[in-house]
Amino acid sequence: MSSVVRPLFERASIGSIALTFLGTASAQPSSTRNHSALALRLGRDVWIFDCGEATQHQLQKSTVKMGKIEKIFITHTHGDHIFGLTALMASLLNGSGGVAEGEEDPRLNIDTTSAALEIYGPLGTRAYVRSGLAYTYTNLGASYVVHELRFPSDPSDGDFTTMPLQLAECAFGRNIHQVNNCWMDIYKDNMVSVSAAPIHHSVPCLGYVIQEAPVPGKINPSQYIPELKRTGTPMSVMSQLQQGETVILKDGTLLHGPPRRKGRKIVILGDTFDPSPIAALAQDADLLVHEATNAHLPGVDPATKDTDTYEIVQARAMSRGHSTPQMAGTFGKSIGAKRLILNHFSARYPGDNSEQSRDIMDTIGQLAASEFGQGVACATDLMTMELGLSET
Ligand SMILES: *[C@@H]1O[C@H](CO)[C@@H](O)[C@H](O)[C@H]1NC(C)=O
Ligand SMILES: *[C@@H]1O[C@H](CO)[C@@H](O)[C@H](O)[C@H]1NC(C)=O
Ligand SMILES: [Zn+2]
Ligand SMILES: [Zn+2]
Repeated sequence: MSSVVRPLFERASIGSIALTFLGTASAQPSSTRNHSALALRLGRDVWIFDCGEATQHQLQKSTVKMGKIEKIFITHTHGDHIFGLTALMASLLNGSGGVAEGEEDPRLNIDTTSAALEIYGPLGTRAYVRSGLAYTYTNLGASYVVHELRFPSDPSDGDFTTMPLQLAECAFGRNIHQVNNCWMDIYKDNMVSVSAAPIHHSVPCLGYVIQEAPVPGKINPSQYIPELKRTGTPMSVMSQLQQGETVILKDGTLLHGPPRRKGRKIVILGDTFDPSPIAALAQDADLLVHEATNAHLPGVDPATKDTDTYEIVQARAMSRGHSTPQMAGTFGKSIGAKRLILNHFSARYPGDNSEQSRDIMDTIGQLAASEFGQGVACATDLMTMELGLSET
């Protein structure tokens, strides 16, 4: 007897993948851009990448379904990427500020044997969440777990806080260590996996690589149907062929289903002035999201200083841990990315529809495109990008 070992969790085949930019500002939010957050929709499921202030509001304004959020990935613990996390958790996990004395609070008895919400982030994410919930007296109505991606210079074990576990916090939060300079398969199911690698910023920071498993190839039924008819084989074997399997007909003829196509690959970087440590993992991405905080825009941005040159602006951006559009384009080209979208813009580069704002953003896109070799989009808040399946 043989038994089939199945993963604990089986995701339905993904179909459409869409990325919604919830916030695209750097340090300061403006009237036209909110703090960093992204929603990745894998079919019906939603994963959030970074969770700046106002992420909840932005979710409510978007078509992303809050109730479908399964996981949250944090690139680094700078406030503009994490200030919204505990607030979002309180909403997602039905939190409350406790009950008056004498009342019974059902939230004091949460089942923490499995996690309703999974959070991944660098060292400090767990302590931040635990303190944030504790000091605001927030009792959650469902469980969560925080897995930390530890750098070699981090403590390898422990929680980085002496505070005890939250009542709703699962005790199985992992401390994940690097192997060969990256964190491979920090999450994996039958349809998709997530890996991460460090990228250079002013504080420990990482980028995430989301890889869809190979998907069934395009099937041409007319290639198979005559053979199935000739041998009186039920048409139901088409579904096996569609999966790429080989079917043996009654007369011994072998029919091979079409080879599987490569799954989609999405790379989401946190803030960076040099993402080269993630280059190998990010190779051939279908979509790369890269920051472009600062740009040199003489004649386009009226606030450009006469004394500035591109080199000065780039050096200034890098000294703060950030990139210019050209740097983003160069990296995108170096990894062979198929598409590049810029985000995390300085408050000087607004996301509204005025002529001047559009001029500025078009120029930023062109500067990146000049290095990338093809068109580059600049994200605006609530913009959604759909990622179709590859043809081959
Ligand atoms: C940013 O968030 C605030 C608070 O929810 C909201 O009022 C504002 O419209 C948002 N801005 C953008 C550009 O979406
Ligand atoms: C939220 O928690 C309260 C108290 O445990 C419970 O009565 C209510 O049904 C919960 N709501 C949801 C949507 O889970
Ligand atoms: Zn930032
Ligand atoms: Zn940062």
